[in-house]
Amino acid sequence: MGADATGAVVAPARPQIRISGAVKSYAGRVVVNVDDTILGNSPIEGLIGPNGAGKTTLMRLIMHSTPLDSGRISLLPPGGGEVLLSSEPTSRMAHHGVVKSNQVIMDFDRLTILDSLLLAAVEGRYEQPHRVFSERAALKRHEDEIRHHLDFFGFTDRTTFALSAGEKKLLDIVRCLLLKPTFLLLDEPTAGLPEDLTEKVMTVVRELAAAGTAVVIVEHDLNVIWNLCDEVLFMAEGSVILRGDPQSIRSNRTVVEKYLGEGHV
Ligand SMILES: Nc1ncnc2c1ncn2[C@@H]1O[C@H](COP(=O)(O)OP(=O)(O)O)[C@@H](O)[C@H]1O
Ligand SMILES: [Mg+2]
Repeated sequence: MGADATGAVVAPARPQIRISGAVKSYAGRVVVNVDDTILGNSPIEGLIGPNGAGKTTLMRLIMHSTPLDSGRISLLPPGGGEVLLSSEPTSRMAHHGVVKSNQVIMDFDRLTILDSLLLAAVEGRYEQPHRVFSERAALKRHEDEIRHHLDFFGFTDRTTFALSAGEKKLLDIVRCLLLKPTFLLLDEPTAGLPEDLTEKVMTVVRELAAAGTAVVIVEHDLNVIWNLCDEVLFMAEGSVILRGDPQSIRSNRTVVEKYLGEGHV
């Protein structure tokens, strides 16, 4: 957070994503049907709901890695204007600051961790990403930043090729950080991670949000949701049916009945 001329702390301006009548069906079955909804009202928003509720599909629709059947999704940058994301190619999303974790994206059979991340760091910005390897200044700049993130997550050997699912997950989060998102979508970023690494992921998410990035996180580890999120959206059967502060969502009858179960509250 910054401070204004009077010294008062001012919240950083964040982008928002506007979803308007977004519908997606597979084989005649509607899996997403989201009316007018704004994402990014709060710095960190949780998106929860039962398996199959449409959370991942909604994120894919935002990234335009899946096309909408109808409706529109746009980015509202803090300075004004509107970018119609649903007519942009997925490859342009990082350029607009919209970044999503992908779980498994990098080919570690051929490239080292460092080289994979170097390429990932510039994929949204360079026409020819491989040029990062021949431009010393760019290489140095990104290398330092990558080392910083790898050290934080405890990667000691950056020249490895084969990695566990958990390591790939963390490296995908590092990739997201390197892309300098203004709007970050995280789909189950801590699934399968041990507690200490889950804490670290939460720390970087908090830091990003404090610096002005809007974050939407899907997570089944509800401790992460309750601890991290300023606001929670509850999705069921393709629609966002409730939103509110974590406490009110946690104790809401519908959420308990459809998702949390009676023993939870
Ligand atoms: N590519 C696809 N083809 C057919 N059905 C799909 C496809 N992707 C998702 N679905 C279906 O859409 C529904 C919502 O899935 P998803 O968005 O992955 O839910 P969530 O992430 O909330 O668990 C599920 O019933 C799923 O089977
Ligand atoms: Mg999912």
